[in-house]
Amino acid sequence: MPRSIALPVLATLVLLCTACDRENDRESSGPRLPSNLLQHDRALSKQQQLTFYSGRSFAVNPWVLAPASTTARDGLGPLFNARSCTACHVNGGRGRLPANQGEPLVSSVLRISAQGEPSAQRGVAPHPDYGTQLQLQGTAAAGAPPEVSAHIRYRYHSGQYPDGRPYELREPIYRVDEWHYGEPSAPLKTSLRTAPPLIGLASIEAISDNTLLAYADPNDSDGDGISGRANRVWSVAEKTEVIGRFGHKAGQPSLRQQTADAFAEDMGLTNALFPHSRCTQRQTGCHQAPSGNGTEQTVEVSDEILDAVTLFAGHLRVPSPRPYLGSGRKLFENLQCAACHRHSIATATASPLKGKTIDPYSDFLLHDMGDGLADHRSEFLANGREWRTAPLWGIGLTKRLHPDAGYLHDGRARSIEEAILWHGGEAQQSRQRFMQRSAEDRQALIDFLESL
Ligand code: HEC
Ligand code: HEC
Repeated sequence: MPRSIALPVLATLVLLCTACDRENDRESSGPRLPSNLLQHDRALSKQQQLTFYSGRSFAVNPWVLAPASTTARDGLGPLFNARSCTACHVNGGRGRLPANQGEPLVSSVLRISAQGEPSAQRGVAPHPDYGTQLQLQGTAAAGAPPEVSAHIRYRYHSGQYPDGRPYELREPIYRVDEWHYGEPSAPLKTSLRTAPPLIGLASIEAISDNTLLAYADPNDSDGDGISGRANRVWSVAEKTEVIGRFGHKAGQPSLRQQTADAFAEDMGLTNALFPHSRCTQRQTGCHQAPSGNGTEQTVEVSDEILDAVTLFAGHLRVPSPRPYLGSGRKLFENLQCAACHRHSIATATASPLKGKTIDPYSDFLLHDMGDGLADHRSEFLANGREWRTAPLWGIGLTKRLHPDAGYLHDGRARSIEEAILWHGGEAQQSRQRFMQRSAEDRQALIDFLESL
């Protein structure tokens, strides 16, 4: 490298590293809060940290259409939903719904399925022309226009607490305006999903199956109204059914498969686990579009990149909770929130975390959440009313990462309070207890969650 280039590059590297260190110090000394979640956790060796940063660059920088001058990051689409992981997982955090009605959908996806028998490997019945997820972006020039044009509208529901205070809930309604590959002959089952935050995920993978199964109570034998059961899903690598952990219905078994599926489904990029393009038979332009295969590769995302992005996705650091001394923590127990949102879970002794306890505030099991939240679309064992308990760690930083970020599987809740008020089904009693509390108590509970 000629000296004139090497020096500025070195200087930039040094500057970048000082910036990283400052970021680290800031977090451990408390008061200043991070504005993104893209820092690695402390479990990584120096070598793994390099892989993390490499993975981060492939997750953050946009992928491009093939053919392109870069062969490492080409092959996007031609049908896709976004160009990078962080287009949806904004700043490493969650996605959002459009603030205004009629705006296009960003950072959320619309899952679909046909009415028939689910496929053993996908857990749903793929639609012959549209697959299992609607692609909102495409490459019209290459004969592959987006699958649909669609928009979001909101329906508002108003209600009142027993103490007379009013509240309002927002429900998103998704409308397809135009089907670019023909209108489906029978109605599809649909499920709107917003990207969840990516923090702490390798530690969720480190929980043993037995620990998760011990929390399950499918027949509610302790009679507390809360059951909880594990999903069982197809593992592509192991070629068998295993416990599901990732996604809003726990439909993915591992971080690697979840990452590979994101590449394939959200970005249109083939990889070792999903080597075939997801273009359907009817999408001829999609089949004919140039692929992003480099000269030595057969898939668009090399194994090295898939592994680096998987390591990245698993090791975003969980932000430390802020000090909280009020009564909200106790209320969280008393209102039975902790029956599903468990704070401490031990990881497996055989895992890289060696039995360390984590505080995700989730049991990672499926719960019936009632009609209000139902999507009426099953995924493997999860039925249309069931959702995986959302982990609550880091939830207090949500609005800092994006002011429009929403809560719950489809981002409908504009505040933590709205999220609680949507709870039904097994959580109905918990929501009722919340509503019956005084306004001060309700605020204390929310303040506690804001401190996480
Ligand atoms: C178009 C938006 C979009 C893009 C792009 C996207 N994701 Fe996601 N991601 C989602 C949604 C929506 C979910 C929830 C899926 C579900 O419920 O099954 C999700 C879930 C996940 C999860 C599971 C998190 C959990 O708590 O269970 C991981 C991990 C993940 N994505 C990683 C990635 C990676 C890595 C990339 C880039 C290769 C990526 N995602 C690209 C929207 C996106
Ligand atoms: C029966 C189990 C159960 C109980 C009890 C329960 N929750 Fe939940 N909670 C869930 C599930 C499942 C979700 C995810 C629902 C979805 O994504 O639509 C969730 C989501 C949330 C969210 C949104 C999280 C996010 O990241 O979007 C918040 C906040 C929350 N719960 C707080 C509470 C509080 C506070 C209580 C007690 C008043 C409570 N929950 C009681 C199961 C439960």
